[in-house]
Amino acid sequence: MTTRKSNRTKRTRRADRGNSMTATGRKTRTRDHRTPMGIRGFDALVDGGVPQGKCILLSGTPGTGKTIFSLEYIYQGAVRFKEKGLFVSFEEQAENLRAQAAKFGWDYPLLEKQGIVTFLNIPVSEIKQNTVDEIVNFIRKNRIRRLVIDSLSALAINSPTAHVKVTDITAYSIQRFIYSFVNRLKSLREVTSLLISQTQEGQLSRDSVSEFVCDGIITINYEALGGEYSRSLIVRKMREVNNDEDVHPLEISKKGIIIHSLS
Ligand SMILES: Nc1ncnc2c1ncn2[C@@H]1O[C@H](COP(=O)(O)OP(=O)(O)OP(=O)(O)O)[C@@H](O)[C@H]1O
Ligand SMILES: [Mg+2]
Repeated sequence: MTTRKSNRTKRTRRADRGNSMTATGRKTRTRDHRTPMGIRGFDALVDGGVPQGKCILLSGTPGTGKTIFSLEYIYQGAVRFKEKGLFVSFEEQAENLRAQAAKFGWDYPLLEKQGIVTFLNIPVSEIKQNTVDEIVNFIRKNRIRRLVIDSLSALAINSPTAHVKVTDITAYSIQRFIYSFVNRLKSLREVTSLLISQTQEGQLSRDSVSEFVCDGIITINYEALGGEYSRSLIVRKMREVNNDEDVHPLEISKKGIIIHSLS
């Protein structure tokens, strides 16, 4: 963990890098394309948003709030930034996700009717060799800009690969699958993906490879110590971004997720 002072220094350096001089001596600000998550308190940690087109791993133990965070990412993207979202779930039925979202006032059925958001619920027993192709084709055809996979762990474990028999799935074949899937998503340059990783304490993923192949890692932790906040969030990695490196309290409020600052 770094101190607030060191983060301030980083931000100053970042601001310097983002400015360049034109031939006339006027200062212009060059800026990469960013995808703001739209989650209160989060975007300030990544200089305004995660880089567009990247794959971000969202890791955490059970019940930390990964699905709620992802539902808000898609919702805010649709409502505030008019970006089309696809939520692929291997875990929970769309009906349950709509109900969970409604608790925070996020009207998913309306967005689905408007065609700006889609739920794709694929039970793990129905994952086939061409499931990834189907997801990628849907993204291309429908000009999706925000993707959630809930979860990458479930997809990887249950996905039979072309070169391996279902009875012979090894850690190696899962790692190969993750590499090829994430690299395919990375080739969709306008799609920013949030890939949920279900972990046990102290892990970033179960496959030990998604944390390396993804461009960014956001981790949510849970500590049952009592007190005001039991959940916290840290941006563990964000390629091309001089990100905040502190641990921040995460609150699941009545209106959604809030990432609190430390002051
Ligand atoms: N309306 C709500 N207000 C506050 N907290 C809530 C609300 N709904 C759910 N929670 C909290 O969020 C937790 C579930 O969040 P979520 O489903 O996003 O977790 P998850 O990280 O996806 O878990 P899993 O890995 O099991 O899928 C619940 O255990 C509960 O503590
Ligand atoms: Mg979940």
